[in-house]
Amino acid sequence: EKAGYDHFMLKEIYEQPRSIRDCLRGRISPSEGTVQLGGLKDYDEKLKNANRIIIIACGTSWHAGLVGEYLIENYARIPVEVEYASEFRYRNPVVSEKDIVIAISQSGETADTMAAIELAKSKGALILGICNVVGSSITRLTDGGAYTHAGPEIGVASTKAFTAQVTVISLMAFYMAQLRETTSPTVLKELITELDSIPTLVEKCLATEEATKYIAEEIKDAVSCLFLGRGTGFPVALEGALKLKEISYIHAEGYPAAEMKHGPIALIDDELPVVVVATKTSSYKKVLSNIQEVKARKGKVIAIITEGDEKIKKEADFVIEIPDAHESYLPLLATVPLQLLSYHVALLRDCNVDQPRNLAKSVTVE
Ligand code: M6R
Repeated sequence: EKAGYDHFMLKEIYEQPRSIRDCLRGRISPSEGTVQLGGLKDYDEKLKNANRIIIIACGTSWHAGLVGEYLIENYARIPVEVEYASEFRYRNPVVSEKDIVIAISQSGETADTMAAIELAKSKGALILGICNVVGSSITRLTDGGAYTHAGPEIGVASTKAFTAQVTVISLMAFYMAQLRETTSPTVLKELITELDSIPTLVEKCLATEEATKYIAEEIKDAVSCLFLGRGTGFPVALEGALKLKEISYIHAEGYPAAEMKHGPIALIDDELPVVVVATKTSSYKKVLSNIQEVKARKGKVIAIITEGDEKIKKEADFVIEIPDAHESYLPLLATVPLQLLSYHVALLRDCNVDQPRNLAKSVTVE
C-alpha cells in the first residue's frame, strides 16, 4: 500500500507532481489562457458581482485559505476574509446573501467547518466547497465547488491535499478574474501557462530531500523553531511550522517575517533554528534584511532560496534551493521541502510519522 515508501506521508509527498496534475486536468487551457470549473459555472453572475468572500477552514486547510486570500484579492479584486471555522461559528459573524463562502476541507468531515457552513447557509450565503473526499458530508452541504482530486490521504499530516487545495483556490482566483475582467487576458494566459508547468517544478522540489536530511540532523534536538515568510511565503511559514510540530513534537511557530521585530526576535539565540522563506519575490530584499537581523543575534538560518541565489547562500547557515517561479506559485513549491524537512526530523526523533500522538485524521468532534 505504501508503494515501497517507508511511510504514507513520504509516499504522499512524492505523489504531489501527480496529484497537482490530476487537479489541473481538464480545468485549464494554456493555449487559450482560460480556466473552466464546472462546479462554479452555475454561479457566474454571483461571482461576477461578489462583494466579499469568506474562506472557512481549520488547520492546514486554513493555510490554503490564506494563500487564496492573496490570489483572489490580487487577481479577482474581491475582498477576502479567512476564518478559523471554530471561531467564526461562535462569533455571531456578519454574513448575508451577498457573501460567498468557500469552505476548504480535505476530509469533508471536520465538525467545526460543517457548523460554520450551516451558520453561513442559514444567513443566506452561497456556499462553495474545496474537498478531497468525494461524497463527504461537506460536499453535500455546499451549493457548488471543486474537488481537489488528490486521492486518498492516509498520513495524518496533510501534504498532497494541501498543495491540491492551493491549486484549486488558484484556479478559482483565475476563474473569478476571468469573469470579472480584473486581470488582463495576457497576464492570465501567462499565469495559466506557468501553472501547467508547476507539476514539473514540484518534481524538482522533491530533489531537495537530500538537503533536508542533512538539515534535519542539525535541528533534531532544537527545543523550538521559528518559520518566517512574507506575502505568499507567510502561509508557507505557517504550514512548515505546523508540519514540524505535528510530527516531530518540536515547538514551532510561523510568523510574518516583518512581525519578527514585534516580539519573536527576543527568542533568537544560537540555539534557535529560523527557517526563512527567502525566494526571489517582490519582498526579497526585506526578507534578506530579516535574515541579517537573525544572524546578528546568532540565530541559525535555514533559508529556502531560488536556485542559484549566491547572495543568501553567503548569509544563511543552510540553504534549500527550489526552482524559480511566479510568486503566486511559491506555496506550491516551497512547502515541499518543508514537508520533507519535518518528515526527516520526525524520523530522527523516532516519532510515529503517519499517526502522531493525540491527533486524528479528521476532527469530527469540536
Ligand atoms: O479535513 P480537514 O481539511 O477539514 O482538516 C483540517 C485540519 O484538521 C487538518 O488540516 C489538520 O490540521 C492536519 N492534521 C494538518 O496536517
